[in-house]
Amino acid sequence: MHIEQLPADEVAARLAQAQADYDALAARGLSLDLTRGKPGAEQLALSDALDGILGQNYRAHDGTDVRNYGGLSGLPEAKALFGRMLGVPAQEVLIGGNSSLQLMYATIEFALSEGLRGPASAWGNEDVVKFICPVPGYDRHFSVCEHLGIELVTVPLLETGPDMDAVEALVRQDPSVRGMWCVPRFSNPTGCVYSAATVERIALLGRIAPEHFIVMWDNAYAVHTLYDDAPELASIHAFCEQHGTLDSVFQFGSTSKITFAGAGVAFLASSPANLQALEAHLAFQTIGPDKVNQLRHVKFLHDCAGIERHMAEHARIIRPRFECVLQTLERELGGTGMGQWQAPTGGYFISFDARPGLAREIVQLAADIGVKLTPAGATFPYGNDPEDRNIRLAPTFPSLEAVQASVDAFVVCVKLASLRQLAG
Ligand SMILES: Cc1ncc(COP(=O)(O)O)c(C=O)c1O
Repeated sequence: MHIEQLPADEVAARLAQAQADYDALAARGLSLDLTRGKPGAEQLALSDALDGILGQNYRAHDGTDVRNYGGLSGLPEAKALFGRMLGVPAQEVLIGGNSSLQLMYATIEFALSEGLRGPASAWGNEDVVKFICPVPGYDRHFSVCEHLGIELVTVPLLETGPDMDAVEALVRQDPSVRGMWCVPRFSNPTGCVYSAATVERIALLGRIAPEHFIVMWDNAYAVHTLYDDAPELASIHAFCEQHGTLDSVFQFGSTSKITFAGAGVAFLASSPANLQALEAHLAFQTIGPDKVNQLRHVKFLHDCAGIERHMAEHARIIRPRFECVLQTLERELGGTGMGQWQAPTGGYFISFDARPGLAREIVQLAADIGVKLTPAGATFPYGNDPEDRNIRLAPTFPSLEAVQASVDAFVVCVKLASLRQLAG
């Protein structure tokens, strides 16, 4: 029953029970952590065959010795593989180092300081530069902008993706808005998949602000499905081609959560003009990326079917952790009005919205009994969740037993905070 429909004596009784449960947990001296959106050891082990896979054959398809310098934009076979994964032609792909976040930073810094179309186009020529971020979102996107002095403007992230009416109004009305962050499939943290209509409207933003606006299409979870029937993502590349806006979109991805989070391959895709400009800039920073790792990845993953088979192994490991969290939330909090959440069909997170004003308190209550949660506010720019509601849960890294113990403690903290608030 919804807690607001409970008679006062029932609220008092449930509050006393929640307090007793909480005290019992405190006495257990827990040490649990649901903060880390990273693969667990069993997932990493799925890719151990990368080690030694080249068997001392360091030649790429075209005869390139991958041990040597060069190949700034990446090996052709790596571009073909990851291009297919993102749904773009190989010639529109650039392979980087191990981190897509670094490629995102490099892109924004380049657009800001040097300009995608020469110095006159540099965003830094303006006093104010703004980026749109759908919220809740990924804290490292926010911190790239905060670090580079870019102001962040929020729009709500709906089940269909960003609220496009709000996005279009901002892009139309404010020329200082230069870009937008997107995690289009299994977004961090809600797990939503942008609808085809949303993808097309995002592809059309380059028509509204043709000269200066870019979409940062961070497809970090492009292939990270938990279930076979998870929704597909419409192709932004196809929509951009149709509407003549390829220059306005930069796509990103990596194998951080496919193979090794610390030793994967990151990639970027954009229009030929953007790639040319960016490559000329990167040439000052490196003589070439790690092609040995690129070749290892191509040999290990082979093709899109190989990636799909590999991701099914990941899903087999992490699906029970997600289901454990979701089943516990449903059993303990379903229908009570103490929280809202969606069941993601892929990605790495579950996003929990507490009753307004309680996220910080819940995170603190959990911390006090040894359960670490992502800091409240982390899913909003400047750490400021205006309603103090959102908490990101990350179930992949701990063991299943630890996930269960953590979520058991979490629901007790949610009940305690919610009933206290209700009791006044
Ligand atoms: C949405 C999103 N983008 C990017 C990253 C980091 O990617 P990479 O390891 O390729 O730098 C993460 C990691 O959690 C993420 O959630």
